[in-house]
Amino acid sequence: MAKNGLEPAKLPSHIAIIMDGNGRWAQKRFLNRIKGHEKGADTVRMVVRTCREIGIQFLTLYAFSTENWERPKAEISALMTLLKKFLAGEKQELLENNIRLNTIGQTERLSAEVQQALNDVMTATASNNGMWLTLALSYGGRAEIVEAVKKIAVQVKNKDIDVASIAPELITHHLYTADMPDPELLIRTSGEFRISNFLLWQIAYSEIHVTPTLWPDMTRDELIGILKDYQQRERRFGRVTQP
Ligand code: IPE
Ligand code: IPE
Ligand code: MG
Repeated sequence: MAKNGLEPAKLPSHIAIIMDGNGRWAQKRFLNRIKGHEKGADTVRMVVRTCREIGIQFLTLYAFSTENWERPKAEISALMTLLKKFLAGEKQELLENNIRLNTIGQTERLSAEVQQALNDVMTATASNNGMWLTLALSYGGRAEIVEAVKKIAVQVKNKDIDVASIAPELITHHLYTADMPDPELLIRTSGEFRISNFLLWQIAYSEIHVTPTLWPDMTRDELIGILKDYQQRERRFGRVTQP
């Protein structure tokens, strides 16, 4: 048992988080939604630090969905500005802590400036292996699966593969997350019991934890508490427990 009360051998290797509730956090305080996103960015820093310290290998954060493009232009632009600020501010910290930055999603839809800021940090941290921090940006689970299906269809058409060789592993191999294990733990803040198009294929057997806490209010203690709760769960994968 480690100092924080967690069992190192039973830690998830991959935690995925739907960071939700920034807008409500701000509205409750009669503030602009953007203030909630700013406070949410502080929570991102805390969660990245905590996960690295605990020894999590993969942390995937849902930062912007394909559906979020439907939000007002001013909110999208504030989110993009915050992202650039986050990247510039965290680059050094990611390097010092051996964290590698990665993205999943239709990142080609992001502005050239944001893509440049992302590429800069991804290149600088490419050889880090302490933890993979993946930002899901312009990400949609259905779009990801559609892209995988298209790639496989081309291979079949070119007779590179047989239809018979299409198996779950092949689909996994064509997703953005091909190089990552599936998340053992999926956390959603703000009390919504939905997936909102996040990692549809990868969460087939993830343990789900929904907390009513709004993302800007998430604390290190609560995160550790969620991990403790996860460590109590019995993951059966459809089998029966041996007596
Ligand atoms: C999550 O907070 C951040 C993003 C989706 C970008 P929201 O902005 O969805 O906050 P609520 O759900 O309106 O409270
Ligand atoms: C999910 O939150 C997307 C992100 C956290 C980036 P949303 O606020 O967009 O999802 P819904 O609208 O509640 O389903
Ligand atoms: Mg929301």
